[in-house]
Amino acid sequence: MSTRSFVSLTLVILLNTCVSAQAIGDDLSTSESEHVSRQLPLGELGRVIELGREIVENTKDHPLSKAYVGNSLNCTSCHLDAGTHPEAASFLGVAAAYPAWSPREQRVITLQDRALNCFMRSENGIRPPVGSEVAIAITAYITWLSTDQPIRMNPDKPLGPNHVRPLKDSVGDIDRGKPLYEDYCASCHGDDGLGSDDGPPVWGDKSYNDGAGLIRVPKLASWLKVAMPLDNASLSPQEALDIAAYINSHDRPKFNLQEHLPTDNQAGVFNGEAKE
Ligand code: HEC
Ligand code: HEC
Repeated sequence: MSTRSFVSLTLVILLNTCVSAQAIGDDLSTSESEHVSRQLPLGELGRVIELGREIVENTKDHPLSKAYVGNSLNCTSCHLDAGTHPEAASFLGVAAAYPAWSPREQRVITLQDRALNCFMRSENGIRPPVGSEVAIAITAYITWLSTDQPIRMNPDKPLGPNHVRPLKDSVGDIDRGKPLYEDYCASCHGDDGLGSDDGPPVWGDKSYNDGAGLIRVPKLASWLKVAMPLDNASLSPQEALDIAAYINSHDRPKFNLQEHLPTDNQAGVFNGEAKE
């Protein structure tokens, strides 16, 4: 390396050091499972990232998001620990996987599209307009959780590097699932599945609709295995499958795409070809 380029390299490094020293704001580390220490950027960007976290934790009640939610779930009902749980539908590293190919939408979609689609399905609500304050805040927060992650866009599916791994076995038995549910889950989610002060509904009108990811028994089972019972995830793969089959054997809202899209006068488009 010539002396000259060495000098300019040093300058660049110095400059970077200054910039990051300046950018140090409050540390917003969120939970014990969160080992990475991230600094919130100063100013309006940091404020919007914090707003995004408030929204994902209080989606059904927050003034900016509640109009778009049609059930009793927050994003963090499934994306545990504000998305920082390493396995339970983790948001860690997710932003680095987008834009990604989505087989369902038959389009390359952005992180914003992906987050808004969860409003239509998992939240049984209406897709917020692209570019709205709620959409920007949520995606700013999720992107911030991918700080320092190398970009690896996903050409196969809209999923990040820490997504829930599918279970090998894939057949659940509803009759075996019922007593397991009553033993391990009903204390918080209710015998009737409609939820309690200790846990949200897992079926019925206020649950995720039948267009959501968790409607697929193997997906729900693999999520349950790493997430439930809360703070004590300990189900065997077969127990998780049986309970998942039992939960998804109950009625829940039916998904009809048109009912979940924003009205025509709302800015933005639905980036997709999905018919159902
Ligand atoms: C009923 C459960 C549930 C709720 C509620 C929910 N999601 Fe999801 N979401 C999922 C599941 C399951 C996946 C697939 C994740 C996986 O396979 O690891 C997912 C995937 C995602 C992804 C893509 C993750 C990736 O790895 O690329 C984003 C982004 C996302 N959700 C955002 C949201 C936002 C924002 C909200 C709230 C408005 C929300 N979700 C509400 C269950 C839910
Ligand atoms: C100690 C109480 C508790 C127990 C026991 C428990 N859960 Fe949960 N569960 C919760 C809470 C609380 C949430 C939401 C997470 C959050 O808000 O941090 C949740 C979320 C869920 C969700 C995603 C959101 C929804 O309501 O659809 C499902 C599905 C679920 N639990 C199923 C189960 C199953 C199945 C079991 C038994 C194997 C179980 N839970 C045991 C408290 C519990």
